[in-house]
Amino acid sequence: MWSGSDLSELPKPEFYHELAAQLRTLVEGESDAMANMANCAALLFHSVPRLNWAGFYLLKNNELVVGPFQGKPACIRIPLGRGVCGIAAAEKRALRVADVNQFSDHIACDSASKSEIVFPLISANGDLRGVLDLDSPELARFDAEDESGLSAIAEIIAAKLSR
Ligand code: SME
Repeated sequence: MWSGSDLSELPKPEFYHELAAQLRTLVEGESDAMANMANCAALLFHSVPRLNWAGFYLLKNNELVVGPFQGKPACIRIPLGRGVCGIAAAEKRALRVADVNQFSDHIACDSASKSEIVFPLISANGDLRGVLDLDSPELARFDAEDESGLSAIAEIIAAKLSR
């Protein structure tokens, strides 16, 4: 059903603007959080160039548990404060890591991953609900424009997680 056009030739600001519009179209009118996260992971993985993993970890009983994603099977549980995901979650801030092998607490799910960006998912009442994680097989794949564009994507999904 997804008929999104190829955005890969667009400059980054326009690319992320269009990507956010496509995500809004996908999730509008649907309240099921898992369904929305699954479609978001698929949209990201198939639209954002040079990724090897895109998906969600969800906060359950004070740890992160893998949720909908695209890519190879991944680590299932991540303690808060551990790894790039766990630190982004514990500190409720985005983390952009240019070289995961230089990040001492990186959790290697796939040795192909070289750089990573993670966004906390914060509900409307300020609660941490999980993280959005993207991995790339390229060093320094994500720049400030990617961070800005993807943070808008994370916010669209976070808003759909609010109870
Ligand atoms: N590398 C992450 C673990 C999750 S995978 O990349 C899918 C981390 O250090 O938290």
